[in-house]
Amino acid sequence: MGKVISFINDKGGVTKSTSTVSLATYLMAEGARVAVVDVDARHSCLDWAAVADNNGHPTPLMVGNSHSNAGNQILKLKEDYDYVLVDGMSSFVTSGRRDVIASIIKASDFILIPSLPNPFDLWALAELTDMIKSRQEITGGLPKTWIFGSAVRDNTNEWKDFVKAKDEAPFPLLTTYLPYSVDFPRTTGQGRSPLVLPESSKSRQALIAWAQEVKEITQ
Ligand SMILES: Nc1ncnc2c1ncn2[C@@H]1O[C@H](COP(=O)(O)OP(=O)(O)OP(=O)(O)O)[C@@H](O)[C@H]1O
Ligand SMILES: [Mg+2]
Repeated sequence: MGKVISFINDKGGVTKSTSTVSLATYLMAEGARVAVVDVDARHSCLDWAAVADNNGHPTPLMVGNSHSNAGNQILKLKEDYDYVLVDGMSSFVTSGRRDVIASIIKASDFILIPSLPNPFDLWALAELTDMIKSRQEITGGLPKTWIFGSAVRDNTNEWKDFVKAKDEAPFPLLTTYLPYSVDFPRTTGQGRSPLVLPESSKSRQALIAWAQEVKEITQ
């Protein structure tokens, strides 16, 4: 049985899709069998895979499912893949699609919540926190959930301030973060990820450190 890792945040533009495909490239490079379930009707991950495929780059198995049966499909995929990565939709609260996210939460072994490093983004997690914690209450703490900092500007105090605010956060914070860099849009726009950049690339190094931490906590 594989592991289901879902990237969920009701807030838009917090790098759910970029993180999903970047982690997929790392795990595939390690030889893992990876499936991605794209829950967002705007299907960013499906588009990314189509570009990758056109350019002859390896892609994970891709599935689009924005319905409340997504959880069942995820559980089936888990039987055949080492990792099932789920890219959640944003604005599920205002668009009345809590059912879809609830179904994903139920099927997840782990949840990663990308958050931009500012207090507004942390405070915006209230609704999702309630949904995850209600599930955790009946399962004895599953799915295990972390928040991680994304698009963090190096050479500023953003990350330090975010770490200081971690006691206000509803879930633990990963120690690694994904830095703010045009390397992410540039490489994902080609159906790849910063993993293809030279070893000296800071984005590549940060992505690897982050993916390694994700691998460790999801062992
Ligand atoms: N580390 C990064 N540094 C700079 N820009 C980034 C980074 N990661 C992602 N981006 C860019 O930020 C924007 C939002 O990222 P992305 O689409 O992955 O977020 P999302 O949470 O999936 O958004 P949505 O809610 O619309 O699905 C995109 O333009 C993306 O290319
Ligand atoms: Mg997205």
